[in-house]
Amino acid sequence: MTEQARKRIFVLGSGGTIAGLAALPTDFFGYTAGAAGVESLLCRIPEVAELAEISSEDFCSIASENATPELWLSLARRAAELLADDAVDGLVVTSGTDTLEELAYFLNLTLETAKPVAVVGAMRPLSAYGTDGPVNLYNAVAVAADDASRGKGVLVVLNDTIIAARDAVKQDASRLHTFVGGDFGTLGYVMAGEVRFFAAPCSRHTYNSEFHLADIHDLPPVDIFYMSGGADARLLNVMADLGASGVVVAGFGNGTFSDAVGEQLHELMNEGLVCVVTSRCQTGQARATLPGLISGGDLSPQKARVLLMLALACNLSNEDIARCFAEY
Ligand code: SIN
Repeated sequence: MTEQARKRIFVLGSGGTIAGLAALPTDFFGYTAGAAGVESLLCRIPEVAELAEISSEDFCSIASENATPELWLSLARRAAELLADDAVDGLVVTSGTDTLEELAYFLNLTLETAKPVAVVGAMRPLSAYGTDGPVNLYNAVAVAADDASRGKGVLVVLNDTIIAARDAVKQDASRLHTFVGGDFGTLGYVMAGEVRFFAAPCSRHTYNSEFHLADIHDLPPVDIFYMSGGADARLLNVMADLGASGVVVAGFGNGTFSDAVGEQLHELMNEGLVCVVTSRCQTGQARATLPGLISGGDLSPQKARVLLMLALACNLSNEDIARCFAEY
């Protein structure tokens, strides 16, 4: 690559296993997530300088199980600031994998840019044998520096695979091949820094999104109610009493729930709670079977929660919220 064509890629760190350190290389699980800074990750892949000119910053250093919607919002604001800079051609965000799919979808809905944005994590800490962090980061920079990544929304890059943020699901609790794209599969591969796309996302995202960071001040609380046989419907009341503005139901199969839960939802929706139904199943569509209940379609409960929070933050009507679930 010539000096002139070299892209300027910013790496924004947020912690996670990709930056995890432990005493022993055999400590695959007992480590401190986010203990290493982005610079020390980049030091492990000096060849990345051949792919792009790199700048970096540690936005935060957390285990992603401690990420909150407020953190996603402030990280999105910093990412938007960086992407608005003419001196930044693309962005890589490092994250813990536990809530990476939510962060990636949040950014996919709020970053008004066609510039490439890659979100990357790892399953093995930086200090472990066979750590996947350095190669995942190398590949994420390659994706962010590739013109083919422009306009494709936020891209999740792990294990040589590129997945649309909307579809990325962490499906394996412990092994490297954890992120998959569900019903819609992967967009492409990135191997040893070589990027190849085979598909592009169809849903609205990034530059075509109606969720403008400037309009979002607070994210109203939204909880997830997980169905199980005999689930106590009164927990829905507890959610409402604790201040939830919306509830996402992770229903059985195509979005079913018990009669008791249905009655409670009916009552709470009459009182103004916005309710969205999704499925506990990994793939397929959830159907809304109560008046006023909104279908989350094929979105996972955790992604539906992100979209509902943003829709409520923008004061959208129930009709518009239902439209958003069809469009994003
Ligand atoms: C985390 O999400 O911060 C820990 C787990 C991981 O990154 O794989």
